[in-house]
Amino acid sequence: MTSRRGLLRRLAALSGAAGLSGCSRLLAQRAEAPTADLPANPLAAELPVEQHAWETELRTDAKGNTLLPRHYRILLLNLDREPSEESAATVERAMRTLEQAYEFSADGLLHMLGWGSGYFERLGALSGSPIRHPKVLSRTDDPDLLAFDAALVLASHVPSQLVATEQAMFGDRGTLGGAAVEDRLGDVFSLAERRTGFLGEGLPAKHADAEGVPADIPDDAPNFSGFGTGRKGTQATVERVTIDDGPFAGGTTMHLSHLRQSLNSWWEMADSEQIEQLFSPEFSPEDIDMDPSLPFADAVEEHAAEDGVVGHWEKAARARDEDGQPRLLRRDFDTVDGGQAGVHFLSLQRELEDFERVRDAMNGWWLRNESSEITDRKNNGILEFITVLSRANFYVPPRDRRAFPSA
Ligand code: HEM
Repeated sequence: MTSRRGLLRRLAALSGAAGLSGCSRLLAQRAEAPTADLPANPLAAELPVEQHAWETELRTDAKGNTLLPRHYRILLLNLDREPSEESAATVERAMRTLEQAYEFSADGLLHMLGWGSGYFERLGALSGSPIRHPKVLSRTDDPDLLAFDAALVLASHVPSQLVATEQAMFGDRGTLGGAAVEDRLGDVFSLAERRTGFLGEGLPAKHADAEGVPADIPDDAPNFSGFGTGRKGTQATVERVTIDDGPFAGGTTMHLSHLRQSLNSWWEMADSEQIEQLFSPEFSPEDIDMDPSLPFADAVEEHAAEDGVVGHWEKAARARDEDGQPRLLRRDFDTVDGGQAGVHFLSLQRELEDFERVRDAMNGWWLRNESSEITDRKNNGILEFITVLSRANFYVPPRDRRAFPSA
């Protein structure tokens, strides 16, 4: 059953049961014709089926590390209109406008529309969906647990294209990248929150007036911690994070957390100490500079007992799957939202349990048993330097079912 058909059946049932309108029979009939009146997406053949398949569109550097987009904007949305065939057509046409305006690449515009736990709850379908409301995942944090209806994730090397896209989708901008704007996401959603950020050499230093980061952060730091993100061999593939069967197949789950960073004491540490805590005590600065794919020794307990310190990467890598492959496709970026240095940690995974498993490995509470120098936060990866402010969960459907997904 297609998602549109499922949605319309559900709406038919809902509107009948709640006596919202007399149109339940009409909706049920239309559910048998789920193509509605929209022609096929004219750009479908040129675009990945998965909205979340950005990596194929990204270049790599000489060492094989992915060159990630430099600017990000996530628009967190609440539904203003009842789900309906008309609203679904508006959403789909609005998303097609983005595809017509810019090439789907980091030089153009990368985007994905995810649907939150608030939306599935509104449909009465949360328990049958791939997601649930977020929960607290670490005993050192007390985050806001958020439920939105949707999230539009945007990324580009060109910051003005993110601003223009927001103006076209939620303001009254009439054209976007040469394309006429006739349908807007703002006709169906209102903007609840905006998350902005950046990644790449030069940009952290430009934001050094934020709290939580020293004013003299090096010009070449690619992010606030100084070591970049997305090193070869540490990311899940698009295939690994894509749901492979059932009514939500072709999509993925997205977890979004906002982390505050307190990095003044981080930048007082020597390179070698930063590497111990970010990667592993077994590596020297030369190892990190030279080898883009780090050998994973799985010796966290030994490092805890012998060195009294463990690295963030080596803890997280313990949660790789049975084949030794990472479970998460991380798309995190730095931010100064709220005037404070932080990270919007966006993670894609086949199941939310994958994220929880990694976060549990990253917590590493059990390592305190190996050394009195390790506590819940101290010498325990990067936990001393981050605080989780909020969490939210989303489902990102495949491109052809991105408007109002349902089972
Ligand atoms: C400020 C926050 C964080 C920073 C600065 C950070 C930094 C890093 C770095 C430098 C790496 C090494 C690989 C790479 O270059 O990408 C890494 C790996 C990783 N991180 Fe983080 N991280 C942060 C938060 C998190 C969170 C919240 C999670 C998930 C709960 C996470 C999960 C992972 C995973 C799964 C890996 C790869 C492990 C593997 O190779 O299998 N990180 N992180």
